[in-house]
Amino acid sequence: MTPLVQIRNLDVEFDTKHGPIKALRDVSFDVPQGKIVGIVGESGSGKSTIIWSIARLLSGNGRIVGGEILFNGRNLCDLDEAALRDFRGRQASIVFQDPMTSQIPVKSYRQQIIDVLYRNRGQSRSQKINHALAMMRRVGIPDPEQRIDQFPHQFSGGMRQRMGIAMALLMKPQLLMADEPTTALDVTMEAQIIHLLRSLQAETHTTIMLVSHNLGLVAELCDEVVVMYAGQVVESGPIGAVYARPAHPYTQALIKSDPARLTERGHYLPTIPGDLPDLRFRQAGCIFADRCLNVFNTCRHEEPAAHVLENGHSARCHLLDPRQSAPAMSPS
Ligand SMILES: Nc1ncnc2c1ncn2[C@@H]1O[C@H](COP(=O)(O)OP(=O)(O)OP(=O)(O)O)[C@@H](O)[C@H]1O
Ligand SMILES: [Mg+2]
Repeated sequence: MTPLVQIRNLDVEFDTKHGPIKALRDVSFDVPQGKIVGIVGESGSGKSTIIWSIARLLSGNGRIVGGEILFNGRNLCDLDEAALRDFRGRQASIVFQDPMTSQIPVKSYRQQIIDVLYRNRGQSRSQKINHALAMMRRVGIPDPEQRIDQFPHQFSGGMRQRMGIAMALLMKPQLLMADEPTTALDVTMEAQIIHLLRSLQAETHTTIMLVSHNLGLVAELCDEVVVMYAGQVVESGPIGAVYARPAHPYTQALIKSDPARLTERGHYLPTIPGDLPDLRFRQAGCIFADRCLNVFNTCRHEEPAAHVLENGHSARCHLLDPRQSAPAMSPS
């Protein structure tokens, strides 16, 4: 089956007063139909930029400078504004970290729901409301008949996020993108939202992309994972393979601590010594070389290719290159 989303060699830049930043560099991965794909990586690695690129909602100073994003085989970069609005309205939706900023504070949920469903011309207003009430019940909002006339500030953080998920699912999108959906919530709420996403996914077979810096949460929820570093995909593959046999030194550093702890909620990205490189300049060699514990000469001047290890598991590292001779691997 064709993957729902195929990202191919995607390059994204942002203009800043200090020059253009290369936020994504040659990013390629697939999101298979009906699966949950997690995107992890430290702050600034480009996770949100991937989501905004797919939605074609990059801020005014951002642009796709290379590559393509195929959705059901169709290149989203070729769509005009009207087709894009339709894509965002019907086929893909986003759940944000902080629903307070994405929901409209001066509108009741009833009004917001009518706005979301305005494209469903075949449905009467009362059908739309009944559909929304059923969805609110489904995501665990008690008393939806009363709650639908309330405003976002009258909901708790967890309830607002449930409402965000309900509204994102109203149009039955094929793709749900969630950017740190539980970061603003406490651990109990987080667990509930994760459980909710998982059961909704099992029921509706919606394809989900989940951005998170919580490795435990990704392990628990996702089928596949994409590990980002400084705008590049350094490793990707089935969750079990990547977590059990991380191949890239960056991924290894992220999950080298007791793997058993990964299933505990609240296992956030550990800090790795050093900083992300300056994304304005293209350094020679491997982008992780400066922080890598396994660095050797080749890493400093040759960019590693993505090496396939097993079934869909690949990583960008010279250590995986079978042509790499032993002497070259002495530390630099
Ligand atoms: N509108 C913008 N203008 C300039 N630079 C930007 C803009 N948006 C993002 N960037 C830069 O692009 C890079 C990737 O940012 P992005 O927000 O995608 O990272 P992230 O992985 O989502 O980080 P976080 O975990 O903090 O949300 C960063 O260097 C960031 O500073
Ligand atoms: Mg982000």
